[in-house]
Amino acid sequence: MAEPKENVLMEKIVSLCKRRGFIYQSSEIYGGINGFWDYGPLGAELKRNVKELWWNTMTRLRDDVVGLEATIIMAPAIWKASGHVDTFSDPMIDCKTCKGRFRADQTDEIACPQKPSKCVNECHGEKTAPRAFNLMFQTYVGPLQDDSAVAYLRPETAQAIFAQFKNVLETSRQKVPFGIAQVGKAFRNEVTPRNFTFRSREFEQMELEFFIKPDEVIEAISGSVATVPDPGHPGEPQPNWGWQAWHQYWVEERVAFYERIGLSRHTLGFHVQTPEELAHYARATTDILFKFPFSKRDGQGELKGEELEGIAARSDFDLSQHQRCSGKPMGVFDDELRTAWGKLPKEKQDDLWRRYCENRKKYLTKTGVTDEAATKQATEDANGLAKGQYIPHVIEPSAGVDRLILALLTNAYSDATKTDEKGKVETTVVLKFHPRVAPIKVGVMPLLKNKPELVTKAHEVRDLLRPWMNVFYDDGGSIGRRYARQDEAGTPFCLTIDFDTLGEKPELLNTVTLRHRDDGRQERLAIGDLLTWLLPKIR
Ligand code: GAP
Repeated sequence: MAEPKENVLMEKIVSLCKRRGFIYQSSEIYGGINGFWDYGPLGAELKRNVKELWWNTMTRLRDDVVGLEATIIMAPAIWKASGHVDTFSDPMIDCKTCKGRFRADQTDEIACPQKPSKCVNECHGEKTAPRAFNLMFQTYVGPLQDDSAVAYLRPETAQAIFAQFKNVLETSRQKVPFGIAQVGKAFRNEVTPRNFTFRSREFEQMELEFFIKPDEVIEAISGSVATVPDPGHPGEPQPNWGWQAWHQYWVEERVAFYERIGLSRHTLGFHVQTPEELAHYARATTDILFKFPFSKRDGQGELKGEELEGIAARSDFDLSQHQRCSGKPMGVFDDELRTAWGKLPKEKQDDLWRRYCENRKKYLTKTGVTDEAATKQATEDANGLAKGQYIPHVIEPSAGVDRLILALLTNAYSDATKTDEKGKVETTVVLKFHPRVAPIKVGVMPLLKNKPELVTKAHEVRDLLRPWMNVFYDDGGSIGRRYARQDEAGTPFCLTIDFDTLGEKPELLNTVTLRHRDDGRQERLAIGDLLTWLLPKIR
């Protein structure tokens, strides 16, 4: 039976990744290790570009976001407070015959995980009932390997941001609303890693925790909370934005980011999580999906897409948890609120006080605090409003670097098969990366490698561009072969240094041929204009 075409495409991508040095299996010489991947020379550049673009977009190009780089291993109490120790698990079932282990919620072939049914490994073995399997990797800190020394590799970068919230606030001169961004490794002992790098056990995240004022505080200061406009970008942030406007803003900002790096809207999809799907802390979550070849299809046969990034409105859950569990205050003081509160009519104060108190109590009772203690604490919290105090809420855009790399590779891949006059079949591959993410920006090629004048000039061009971008110097083989090699690496531009560059046609002295990857178009550019031509295209 023929392979479904989406599997064929994935196979081609996996094989290209290895052949051209984008992604290799980790520990391959020892047979590999499931769920772990290494990035080769081109993959490392691609990844670096993506992370740098995210970092620049999210922090350096904004006044209201600052960065953090925290450790991977943190105090285990953080993971207790965040809920990961108790609830970060997948339902797992074992096959009693073949000893295979599966995620009960993701194995279509297993009709009902509660009952013995067919094993996906086709051994028809009986299955165990599902059990919770915690996804955090454990290790020990220090020389003793007992329960007191257990620590975890972080399963998300977000918690470090919450744990350092007060330090960052106090040292960065930021005021709510503001965000803290972090890029870094995360580890999850996934039961069934799959789809190449899509679900790995070690991966990278790019996360922003954007802290906002609770809606009651906005209402006290601005009189009302802005209504969320029709779908689409709500525009520049406004002081009267509540969590819904901020949530929509970040969804649209993130889509704009994907568009800027070559993933057009029609390659993406959206999934608004249903109340049943929402994590216990979330008020709303919108997943941005990418239509990976292995995605499921809808009723019309269209790819539905798989999660690339989740944008969650996490309420004040995380900071509240860390305040409760560490005993350290996580609230902020807001002078604007204190002043505004004093000017509010009594009925308005009472109304806002009651709503804030109810929300705080809801959170506290959910976390197991007794009704009496929750009422006492919530009352205290609501009394804080008059003093200008509250715990910020959070909007969290959380993206996976590796999933984005896979999306970019899939999106860029194109191939064509030609048969030449001698009947030889040749397949050419072009990776049509956006120049901003392309691992190599420019190929620099002397027409002939045995002409010292051409080589010297080509070195000059290479050295001119090198401090600004990743350049690949190639003098081996025919120029057509060299172009083809760069097409396969996704290099958007190639520069050829020929005899006209040296002044054979005097009017072309010190110009080069610039070839465009996607349509093979060629134009002549002065060496002195190269940087001004190239830089805006790759940044
Ligand atoms: N702090 C929120 C959080 O971690 P998540 O939906 O579990 O949320 C965020 O993860 C993103 O991290 C996902 O959208 C995905 O891109 C990436 N991600 C999660 N698990 C992954 C895995 N096993 N392999 C690769 N990427 C993963």
